[in-house]
Order: sequence, then structure tokens, then C-alpha cells
Amino acid sequence: MSRVVVVNGPNLNLLGKREPEIYGTRTLQDLESTVRAKARSLGIDVDFFQSNSEGELIEYLQVHAPGTLGIVINPAALSHYSLALYDCLQALALPVVEVHISNIHAREEFRSRSVTARAARGVIAGLGFAGYEMALEYLAKQ
Ligand code: DQA
Repeated sequence: MSRVVVVNGPNLNLLGKREPEIYGTRTLQDLESTVRAKARSLGIDVDFFQSNSEGELIEYLQVHAPGTLGIVINPAALSHYSLALYDCLQALALPVVEVHISNIHAREEFRSRSVTARAARGVIAGLGFAGYEMALEYLAKQ
């Protein structure tokens, strides 16, 4: 079955507790359930992973992304500075959709720049968990 990798970066394990007025009250486990339900409805498999470590995210992508339809990634704060993650996404040469739960353009100035977005086909920001579902829909059609 076709497979998609869904990866979440630093501090997204705190979803539900962390700044709920920005990120909502649903947890990372709720996000995983939402993503798995959407994948099932699209007839695709999903590998779901979160890490607070840049190196672990890169290792995970290098091992698990090749051969998949593509990558849905919320690099969290790494979006704003991780050239290593950018290089990793470029090297994998797969369709990438970058997702942000919040609208990074409506927040602090430093958030509006994403270095990893340059390696993405597209970016969805500000639509909460629905952004992940839309990203899966896009990749399922690739
Ligand atoms: C985020 C936005 C980032 O600026 C922030 O560092 C995050 C989450 C989002 O999903 O809105 O950790 O990627």
C-alpha cells in the first residue's frame, strides 16, 4: 500500500498543554488519530513520528521516507533555522508539504521565515490539524 511519512518537530509532544490559545487543546495523540483516520479514508498507510531532536528527525526521514509518496512535516521551530533539515528534505527528493498549526505569518516576525519551506512543494499554515489532512489529500494524489 502507498505510504506517507508524517513528522513533527520539537515541542509538538506538548500539544494540548502548550499555549492552547495558539495551538488548541487537542494532543499529539489526537493529531495522530486524526492523521490515521484521514489516511485510512484515502487508502494510504502512514508512518507517524515526533522528536525534540533535530538529529533524530533527520535519521528518521533518511530511513523511513525513501519509497513513500512523500512527507508531511511540521518542523516547528526548526523551520526557522535548520539548514540540516532543509538539506535532508532536499536530498530525499520527494514531495514535501510543510504544515504549521498556527499562522506563522500572523505571529512574531522570526516565525514568518521558514528555511525548510524552500524544500517543500507547498506550505499550509494556520488551519490547525486540518492542514495535515489537506497535506495527506495532496500527497495521496501524487
Ligand atoms: C509551529 C510554528 C512554529 O513557529 C513553532 O516554533 C512551533 C509550531 C506551528 O505548528 O504553528 O513549534 O510550527
